[in-house]
Amino acid sequence: MRYGERLRVSLSGSSHGPEVGVTIEGIPAGTPIDPVRIQGDLDRRRPVGRRLATRRQEEDRLVIDTGVDQGAATGATFRAHVANEDVRREPYDRLRSTPRPGHADYPARVRYGPEADLSGGGIFSGRMTVGLVIAGSIARTLLATIGVDVVAFTRSIGPEGATVAPTDDLAVLRSKAAQNEVGAPDPESAARMEEAISAARRDGDSVGGVVEVRATGLPVGLGEPFFDSVESAVAHVVFSVPAVKAIEFGAGFAAASMHGSEHNDPFVWQDGRVRTSSNHSGGILGGLATGMPLVFRVAVKPTSSIARPQRTVDLDDKTATTIVVAGRHDPCIVPRAVVVLESVTAIALADLALRGGFLP
Ligand SMILES: Cc1cc2nc3c(=O)[nH]c(=O)nc-3n(C[C@H](O)[C@H](O)[C@H](O)COP(=O)(O)O)c2cc1C
Repeated sequence: MRYGERLRVSLSGSSHGPEVGVTIEGIPAGTPIDPVRIQGDLDRRRPVGRRLATRRQEEDRLVIDTGVDQGAATGATFRAHVANEDVRREPYDRLRSTPRPGHADYPARVRYGPEADLSGGGIFSGRMTVGLVIAGSIARTLLATIGVDVVAFTRSIGPEGATVAPTDDLAVLRSKAAQNEVGAPDPESAARMEEAISAARRDGDSVGGVVEVRATGLPVGLGEPFFDSVESAVAHVVFSVPAVKAIEFGAGFAAASMHGSEHNDPFVWQDGRVRTSSNHSGGILGGLATGMPLVFRVAVKPTSSIARPQRTVDLDDKTATTIVVAGRHDPCIVPRAVVVLESVTAIALADLALRGGFLP
């Protein structure tokens, strides 16, 4: 459970254990570590106060264990955690033998055996993303020193409410997306998306959606060609986020039906530097950053734990059975995945920046 070469992030804990945490090696000594800022990012991930999310109530109070002195990284291993407070195991006891359709229960039980702690999803829970948000917050501090900014926002929920970013200014996008519960930068689509989530919840069902991530200020040439291209590094860490099913960079799948004359992004001089007049490449050529905004979209599946009877099997009795999933679940993961996807992108970019010598 470790990601990164120069900025090495590992996760610990589980959904219903005492805590979830993160260990980070490779933070350059002297990097400012601001607990208030990290807490602010953690608060963006929390379901509390969100009408549309799980009713699990967690404070997610940041505790920094090691690696910081007088507000700055010491250069030694950093570790932080948050306690799991609102733990209710009972709804999960039955899952030991009847796996939830769409969740990790079945392959996890086969791999780790019947004693595996799958309570609350165990290590497959969305709660593990707490550590990613802590690491992402620090990675964004590092990236800011070289003028890189990262923002994620909700593009669509289920079949409803697709939105197009109303501006290319990341600061404006960020503040608009923060104004509603779904994290969409345009209030009209946000209202349709909220309704789609509420309707799914009323039906005992769930919905998925698409998150768009943008990063600006990337130094030209960032990325390691071939196996650790910007696409490879970003996709690797994005697919670590539970419930992510697809990613497309720039024009993505639409590129397959375009002509070269249409897809190629013409180079232009602008303000004394090379830009492209379109950005179908999503800011990457040959696995390296072009200096144009990195743009990609991520498909998040509908939450598997739904409040309807579903067909499954009893692994002990070897019989067919029906399950109604108890526990507290998000009818839509997307609004909470926004900050997580922003965070993992920052982790991947900071690691590449350290590897390429763009960060000291
Ligand atoms: C922030 C976040 C919250 C999540 N909340 C839930 C949830 O409440 N219920 C659920 O069934 N899955 C939830 N998930 C998704 C599951 O963890 C995930 O579907 C499961 O581990 C199986 O992995 P997979 O979907 O990547 O195959 C959440 C994921 C994230 C990122």
